[in-house]
Amino acid sequence: MTSPAGATPAAVTAAPAVTSAARRPVAPLGNTSPVWRRAWHPVAHAEEVTADGPARVLVGGQPWAVARFDGRLAAFEDQCPHRLAPVSAGSLTRTAAGETRLTCAYHGWRYDAAGRCDLIPALGREGPVSSRARLRPAYGITEAYGLIWLAPEEPLGALPAFPEWHDPAMTRAKSRTVRTRASAGQLVDNFLDAAHFPFVHAASFGVADDGPLEAGTVTADGWLATGVFDTPYRDGGAVVSHRVIKTAGVSGSAHVRLELPGVTIGILLACQPEDDDTTRVFKLITRSDIGGDDGRLETFIKEEDQILAEDLAILERYPSGLLPLDPRAEVHSRADRLSVAWRRLMASATAAAGAGMADATAADATGTCA
Ligand code: FES
Ligand SMILES: [Fe+2]
Repeated sequence: MTSPAGATPAAVTAAPAVTSAARRPVAPLGNTSPVWRRAWHPVAHAEEVTADGPARVLVGGQPWAVARFDGRLAAFEDQCPHRLAPVSAGSLTRTAAGETRLTCAYHGWRYDAAGRCDLIPALGREGPVSSRARLRPAYGITEAYGLIWLAPEEPLGALPAFPEWHDPAMTRAKSRTVRTRASAGQLVDNFLDAAHFPFVHAASFGVADDGPLEAGTVTADGWLATGVFDTPYRDGGAVVSHRVIKTAGVSGSAHVRLELPGVTIGILLACQPEDDDTTRVFKLITRSDIGGDDGRLETFIKEEDQILAEDLAILERYPSGLLPLDPRAEVHSRADRLSVAWRRLMASATAAAGAGMADATAADATGTCA
């Protein structure tokens, strides 16, 4: 795993203490909210970034050029300092010594993995190169769970954990990757919510007459919110009780571990907030009872595709992708405690990221539950 700025992927800073209930408004969370600059984002499948050339990806409305330099990943703001052409339109070339360079398509300025320019063709091979002729790197770029992850600036939280992905007892797969007009914030909020199962997922795993949602426990630890509760689950024909452990941090990603009788499922929903209009959704899935059965694996993937489609069917009906972070903007119930905890966390992150809309104490505004 690599990072052009030398950062470790697990860079974490402590969550600020929430000290009082300020009453200033908290801006809603959209795909281009400044807080996303302080988070890790999935930007591509690993196989989409090849030695053939740079890839252009979007995070929070900003384009980045991502490339592999002799096995090392690098990401740069997608702008050549010369005439500001997108360097993602360039190509990967080789020096006489065989080292990889990113060469701009416009006038051929040539950059190394750290973003330093080492050749301006119009000045000749020995010509001077200004120290200002540099690409601006992302704070971090790394590869995990078969995806490429990018952090524009120092992230507030760690890369999302996904222990099931590395568990040899689990069979892992990727559900269909989709683009949607729903925002990353809406998708994470939906993923943390359990009260919609009997309605949105009535055709898949939801159980219509499952009674009140069990309260469970919700905890906030640093930059992570976690909920644990038991709820009915329809797995094929059988209705079983299952334990759900959901976790989300300062991230467009959320993790769930489902513990059914004799079966464990682990899922990482990883959302890339591309711009105000689109989110790319990667859904990584694992299950313990596949055992090399390709038919069962195909069924599992299809079920997870369907579940995501059911969620998107309601999320895409919203007129806007903005997710309220001010707890007074919506009416919450006891069943929404995890969603409220994540809103508070993101409000604190917004303040900590210096977005200028509210300080961390605003996250402590009343999250009254009806
Ligand atoms: S714009 Fe890149 S070399 Fe001129
Ligand atoms: Fe759902």
